[in-house]
Parts: sequence; structure tokens; C-alpha cells
Amino acid sequence: MNQPNYYLLTPGPITTSRTVKEAMLTDWGSWDQDFNQVTQTVRDKLLAVANSQDTHVCVPLQGSGTFAVEATLGTLLGPQDKLLVLMNGAYGQRIAKICDYLKRPYVCIDTGDYLPPDPNAVAELLRQDASITTVAVVHCETSSGILNPVEAIAEVVNAAGRKFIIDSMSAFGALPADARRLGYAALISSANKCFEGVPGFGFALIRQDLLEQAKGNAHSLSMDLYDQWAYMEKTGQWRYTPPTHTVAAFAQALREYEMEGDAPGRLARYTRNRDQLVAGMRQLGFQPLLEERWLSPIIVTFLSPDDPNFDFKRFYQELKQRGFVIYPGKLTQTESFRIGCIGKIDTPEVARLLQAVKDTLIAMEISLS
Ligand SMILES: Cc1ncc(COP(=O)(O)O)c(C=O)c1O
Repeated sequence: MNQPNYYLLTPGPITTSRTVKEAMLTDWGSWDQDFNQVTQTVRDKLLAVANSQDTHVCVPLQGSGTFAVEATLGTLLGPQDKLLVLMNGAYGQRIAKICDYLKRPYVCIDTGDYLPPDPNAVAELLRQDASITTVAVVHCETSSGILNPVEAIAEVVNAAGRKFIIDSMSAFGALPADARRLGYAALISSANKCFEGVPGFGFALIRQDLLEQAKGNAHSLSMDLYDQWAYMEKTGQWRYTPPTHTVAAFAQALREYEMEGDAPGRLARYTRNRDQLVAGMRQLGFQPLLEERWLSPIIVTFLSPDDPNFDFKRFYQELKQRGFVIYPGKLTQTESFRIGCIGKIDTPEVARLLQAVKDTLIAMEISLS
């Protein structure tokens, strides 16, 4: 077997530390008190990161992030609910697709590939349509890397007395997500993004009163977050087999997170990575898709250069050979590619990446500057 040996500059799974990987060398008993304690510590810490201990509960769910998004919508949206989806990329579209599957009514404000939702337009639609009970937004729309203005949207949603759901998959852990400031009903994220754990579970921070009211709503047994929560509260255990190694790795990732200074520490490093990346790529002749003010410190989309020798597949392979895996673009209109700023990478790795991009351009006989 070929062991991969490269940095993952992607939206996740991302590069993790050796110590996080080593935390998976133990086989935990899923019913055992020792493992229950690990789960409880993780849940408590996640609530604390969001300043939500007094209002919300943390419900982890086996599977990838999408499982947690679908489970949260399926659990919280009852037949009387109608969702407004603020869509500006693939993950907003996925929320709408989940509603199609769940047969829950929804409307969208779609601002295309790379524009943020306008809070005034949201306020206006909520005024016009009293049947909308809930609004969902993606915090960092990872398909373009845009950082959506969740604070301004929270303000209008809360002022209109509607419930607010945030898909903060790629943002939570680095960007501020204070439950008291944003007043969300639920915030969803996963183990393998800004917390720098390995894949295997997602989680939702859900307002306890709303979760209690949602008993019986869920469309699916395994995705019933009320039941998952109630069982966990009663027994300390996960319903059904938990991803034990992933949870143990996550507990180690959280220790490293604390050592880095929690969200402010992580945000500082990711911002540094982003600034170094964007400046270096500009120097090499690449242009980011987004205006400066919308660039997230999570992932950056660059426009594919207009050079006949540029071919993404070759570019990707050349960079991979040099130790870096990047991501294809996810825009509907424009050719692009993405480079992540998250994961266990810092200034020296970004510098090496930029050198690798430079060498790749030479190898591909592309001259941009
Ligand atoms: C904002 C956002 N939502 C949802 C998802 C889906 O997560 P997963 O691929 O783990 O199912 C992702 C994945 O990158 C994401 O970035």
C-alpha cells in the first residue's frame, strides 16, 4: 500500500497532528465508563466554545457533516414549519435538497456563486411571508470560501421572531459563534474541520427547549437527534456504535485546541495562513475569486489562469508530487480551484506550498507574471 505523504490543503478532512493520530491507537469499549467520560468532556467543551452551556445541548451524531445537517433539520422542522434557505453555493443547495427529501416546505434567497445574502432582503421576505418559521444559512460557504455575514442575518432573524439554524461546518472552532450573540436554535459542525480532528462524526448545538419540543418530529430513527440526546443523557452512551477512535482523537484535538488559545488562537493562525497564501499567489499571478472583505480564513478560491497550458488535473498532480493536495473548484460558472488554510499547517508549510506552485508553473510552462 502506498502511504500518502502530503499536506491536505482542503476543506476537510484536513492535516492533523501526529498526536491526534496517535490518540487512535487505543481500542475503547463503547459502553465503558472511560469512553463515556471522553464523550462527556467533548460535549461540554463544544458547548463552552459557543458560550452556550446554559441554553443549548450538544448532540453528536455518527457520520459525516451532512448527516448532522440532515438530522438537525429532520429533528427540528415539524410539518408546520417552513424554512428560508439563504443559498450562495453548494452547501446551501444541499440544505434545500435535504428539505426535498424530508418533504418540508422551503423558499430560497439565492445570491449565486459568490455574493453574500443581503440581511435587508431577508428582513423583507420575513415581513412578507409569515409562514416562514426558520431561516438557515451556511457560515462559511466552503464551495467558494465566502464568509457569510451571520451576525447581521442573526439580527434580522431574531428581530422577526424566527428560528435560526447555522451550518457552521467549516467555521466553528475558529470563527466566533457565540450563542448569546447569534441566538441560534442550532449550530452544526463536524470533527474534521477547524477543531482538527479526524472524520467520523458531526454534532449540533441545539437549544434545549426546542429539542424537547421536537420529540417525535424526526423522519428517521438513526437521525433522530432528540432520541440521540435523550439516550445520551440517560445512559452516558451513544445510541448505536460510536466512532470510538474518532472521538478519542477529537478529545486530543481539543486539548491541542486549548493549548493554542481556543478559537482566537486558531483564527489567528488560519488568518496568517490565508494572508500569506493570497499574497504569495497574487505574486505568482493568480487572482482570488472574492473581494478581500469576503475572503474567509478557511479556504480560498482562485480563478484558473487563462493560459492554454493550464490544466487543473496536471496542476493538481504536480502539486501532489511536491507534497500538497489542493481541491478542485465548485463554482457553476467559472473555472477555479481552492486551497485550504485550515488544518495543522503554519507559515513554513504555506511558504513551501508557494514554492511548489512556482515550480509547478515552470514545469507546466505557464508564465503569469
Ligand atoms: C459548510 C459545509 N456544510 C456541509 C458540509 C458537508 O460535510 P460532509 O462532507 O462532512 O458531509 C461541508 C463539507 O465540507 C461544508 O463545508
